[in-house]
Amino acid sequence: AAWEKQVRHSSTPRRPNGFSVLVTGAAGFVGTHCSLALKKRGDGVLGLDNFNSYYDPSLKRARQNLLQKHEIFIIDADINDSDLLSKLFDIVPFTHVLHLAAQAGVRYAMQNPQSYVKSNIAGFVNLLEIAKAADPQPAIVWASSSSVYGLNTQNPFSESHRTDQPASLYAATKKAGEEIAHTYNHIYGLSITGLRFFTVYGPWGRPDMAYFFFTKDILQGKSVNIYRTQDDKEVARDFTYIDDIVKGCLGALDTAEKSTGSGGKKKAPAQLRVYNLGNTSPVSVGKLVAILESLVNVKAKKHVIRMPRNGDVPFTHANVSLAYKDFGYKPTTDLATGLRKFVKWYVGYYGIQQRVKKETGSIDKHPHDS
Ligand code: NAD
Ligand code: UGA
Repeated sequence: AAWEKQVRHSSTPRRPNGFSVLVTGAAGFVGTHCSLALKKRGDGVLGLDNFNSYYDPSLKRARQNLLQKHEIFIIDADINDSDLLSKLFDIVPFTHVLHLAAQAGVRYAMQNPQSYVKSNIAGFVNLLEIAKAADPQPAIVWASSSSVYGLNTQNPFSESHRTDQPASLYAATKKAGEEIAHTYNHIYGLSITGLRFFTVYGPWGRPDMAYFFFTKDILQGKSVNIYRTQDDKEVARDFTYIDDIVKGCLGALDTAEKSTGSGGKKKAPAQLRVYNLGNTSPVSVGKLVAILESLVNVKAKKHVIRMPRNGDVPFTHANVSLAYKDFGYKPTTDLATGLRKFVKWYVGYYGIQQRVKKETGSIDKHPHDS
């Protein structure tokens, strides 16, 4: 079938000893960037995504078009579809799965808790069931989250710190994923690496995230809400630029050992790892807004709320020395530099009538500014 041909074509590596990677959530923000980077260096990449409407599906389709230009094919399917997945693994001997498909977002978990259970728990288990039965068994690298540190106040967070106080159902499902990974590694010899991303931002980003809709709202002259902590302090995030996250994902894939099982049986102990991928430099939400104001040259209308939002944690801060030791992970983009790139993409993508100064990349005054 034509479908099958596409699948084989795009998943075949072009470099010697290249990987054949299934990227779940490939039409997502991180999935798009990782797929492009893998393809660029000669690995075979096949995407899978259900194109759900948690946020604007047209943005996911636009990312798909971008991938298509680079000959990356995305199967329109759900990770819960075992028939499709087992057929797929029969056709393609994937060496790796980069599992990024998930119900993301912290606050939406209070509106639609079941979507988190379906994608982040049931979907993950389904994928691991398929991976365990596959021959060869692929090594799995998947996205956990900084949110697993929850209400922990040790600063910065190391991988050994406690993760038993999730502040949201989203965090609880990511934490559950880490426990589930342990069992599949233990019983079936699957090689599994969990990556705790810290608030990732950049071009082609997620419209549900604060930096994204703050940019939109500031440009449209609407006010932005800045939440504070329970004791009226500033909330801070270790905002991490997408290119740094991509390097971390590729580093984790490159150092992933092979799974040791086959046909659902384990042969020897296999690799089980978890890493922080952050920026090591937390910035307050107030400062985030200030940077955006200067980039778009519009003064934001600010509404400071002297309490946290349900589900939010007061701060995040990554210690990344483990990822540095094991695969040289070193974030290199500060928030102002990364946001500049985001804003440039944003005004281009949404066709906003602004001149982006070539020499500085800064953006001219917006008509809504008074
Ligand atoms: P995203 O929502 O842009 O990407 C996820 C993609 O997965 C989407 O395109 C969605 O359509 C797809 N998807 C969701 N459920 C699916 C299912 N059941 N079957 C098939 N496809 C499905 O999010 P992102 O920001 O790119 O995040 C990627 C991963 O990283 C997620 O696991 C997320 O939880 C995790 N993460 C992200 C951040 C961040 O700040 N962006 C931080 C920590 C962890
Ligand atoms: C982000 C992602 O959305 C999650 O998918 C991811 O798992 C998580 O990072 C992570 O690091 O693990 P979050 O940091 O909450 O979650 O990202 P945003 O929703 O963009 O919020 C960023 C900050 O802005 C938070 O401190 C939040 O309190 C604040 N915020 C958000 C406001 O002050 N006002 C708003 O209107 C929205």
